[in-house]
Amino acid sequence: MKVGCRLLIQSRSVVLGFTKSPMLIRNHHISPPRFLGLQCRNRTQKPFSVTYPNWGQSRVFPATCCSSNKDNSGKPRYVSDYSTKLETSVNNKNFEKIYVQGVDDVDEKTPVVVENKDGAVDRDGEESRLKDVPNEKLVSLDPAERVESDAEKEAWRLLKQAVVTYCGSPVGTLAASDPGDTTPLNYDQVFIRDFVPSALAFLLRGEGEIVRNFLLHTLQLQSWEKTVDCYSPGQGLMPASFKIRTVPLDDTKVEEVLDPDFGESAIGRVAPVDSGLWWIILLRAYTKITGDYAMQERVDVQTGIKLILNLCLTDGFDMFPSLLVTDGSCMIDRRMGIHGHPLEIQSLFYSALRCAREMLASDEGSKNLVRTINNRLSALSFHIREYYWIDMKKINEIYRYKTEEYSTEATNKFNIYPEQIPHWLMDWIPEEGGYMIGNLQPAHMDFRFFTLGNIWSIVSSLTTPKQNDSILKLIESKWDDLIGNMPVKICYPALEYEEWRIITGSDPKNTPWSYHNGGSWPVLLWQFTLACIKMGRIDLAKKAVDLAESRLYDDHWPEYYDTRNGKFIGKQSRLYQTWTIAGFLTSKMLLENPEKATLLFWEEDYDLLEICVCATKTGRAKCSRGAAKSQILV
Ligand code: GLC
Repeated sequence: MKVGCRLLIQSRSVVLGFTKSPMLIRNHHISPPRFLGLQCRNRTQKPFSVTYPNWGQSRVFPATCCSSNKDNSGKPRYVSDYSTKLETSVNNKNFEKIYVQGVDDVDEKTPVVVENKDGAVDRDGEESRLKDVPNEKLVSLDPAERVESDAEKEAWRLLKQAVVTYCGSPVGTLAASDPGDTTPLNYDQVFIRDFVPSALAFLLRGEGEIVRNFLLHTLQLQSWEKTVDCYSPGQGLMPASFKIRTVPLDDTKVEEVLDPDFGESAIGRVAPVDSGLWWIILLRAYTKITGDYAMQERVDVQTGIKLILNLCLTDGFDMFPSLLVTDGSCMIDRRMGIHGHPLEIQSLFYSALRCAREMLASDEGSKNLVRTINNRLSALSFHIREYYWIDMKKINEIYRYKTEEYSTEATNKFNIYPEQIPHWLMDWIPEEGGYMIGNLQPAHMDFRFFTLGNIWSIVSSLTTPKQNDSILKLIESKWDDLIGNMPVKICYPALEYEEWRIITGSDPKNTPWSYHNGGSWPVLLWQFTLACIKMGRIDLAKKAVDLAESRLYDDHWPEYYDTRNGKFIGKQSRLYQTWTIAGFLTSKMLLENPEKATLLFWEEDYDLLEICVCATKTGRAKCSRGAAKSQILV
């Protein structure tokens, strides 16, 4: 049977000079949606011409068709022997040309300039930090040159098996491929956040094509028509996941279509705020590792970055520089009391802004945007460092807080009642070390320790060097609680009893010490490893990776583990979870080649600390940042 593949792309352009009102965006449909296919009548890419202030770029997607041989099972083809490589090594010492299969607006076989990373200097002016790498022995990542453990061999086999193709090209990995799972729900889709560790594993092995395809295809999904009960979210929204569906055209032909889910089918109908942020972070990782800088310079890629930023930077009612989101808008995608300003989103937001600043073309059209990014980065890092940080000293301060303070000079700005300090915390907080709380709202601090937010704050330098060090110290001293039998606890402690009932809405999947509610997630290993390498604590990462390696293989790569110390495979945990597999492989490769890790983290940006755009200039209020700076710096 013949398979036709269509990208279902419509031309759109972004023109200089109007406002960014969402109404305006919705009013700019210039042609009726077009789509062939059964399930996807409403899943049309949104054709539009829309205006953005100071963005003088046009973004054009020509329709592209391709065809491939295909089995006639009606299912998308998953590659079991995936070994696609960039056609010439991207690690070659010289500039060179490579040929990339056409999936976009380049002709099939369009040459793309690849620059060697050794010569690469960021737009920030940051030079490659290879010289700062701990003096570890560099080990080859080429499987032919090193002996892989059984666990690694199995992991690679499974990761390759999880690869999904579209029009014959690899475009992502399934969330899970558990053969015993009769109700895969949406685990048979490619999730944006789940693909990140897969992408890194492939990139670190020199296999860039799948990542490039993923980035370009998801970019095209960005402007899809997406509606929940007649309301459409903004254009920059990236889907949580996508599926490749096969749609019959006639008796002999079928067509493959990409079918994204923006949250309109997801449990709880939550928009995945983290998807766009991860997309930007992955784009930068792809560029740094492959040296394919031409990718980020493409007009459609530049516009994609701007659309995401536009969603994040749009003015609203906020009083804080942190992003205001609904519950479940990130890795924890069910109700867990993380609505408001959860740390995970703030740390991803911060690093996505840093990535975008590096990648945006330095032209007239981007000037204002870069200024906005700088201001936001500066305000955000101050806000988080100052108000989210807790350690023994800070808890003691909160314990003695005065409340009901009315003035711009208040110490207890958010009116936190000291009674809120939970009993567990008084006993738990170590003498040395500290961490960022999970969330901050008026009269509410969520004192739970959320691992991804804390670790990614280290990686992105949202936290100060001293705070970074303290977070790792805390993890080390609370090893049994946060690592236990399986790295790494998603959050600590679990919500129990009445709190569980009220905050999770009696969620039977998020029972105490299970799943998002204090479960242990092996995928977090790669972020932990990265943070440890950055902070020169390779010993900690190795200990965690060894622990995971000894169990994951035997346990068939579960999605998560249950109980206080992560002793049991999660009650409803999928097996053969791809990001568990990929996270393990990525951690191993980063540990063996820490110089690659330097391409994935950020150092403190001292210039940002100088930017202050607060009310001091009006004379209305005193700037507290100057005074606080001495405390929060290094
Ligand atoms: C669960 C996780 C989410 C992940 C998805 C697919 O819903 O909470 O973070 O993306 O599974 O693995």
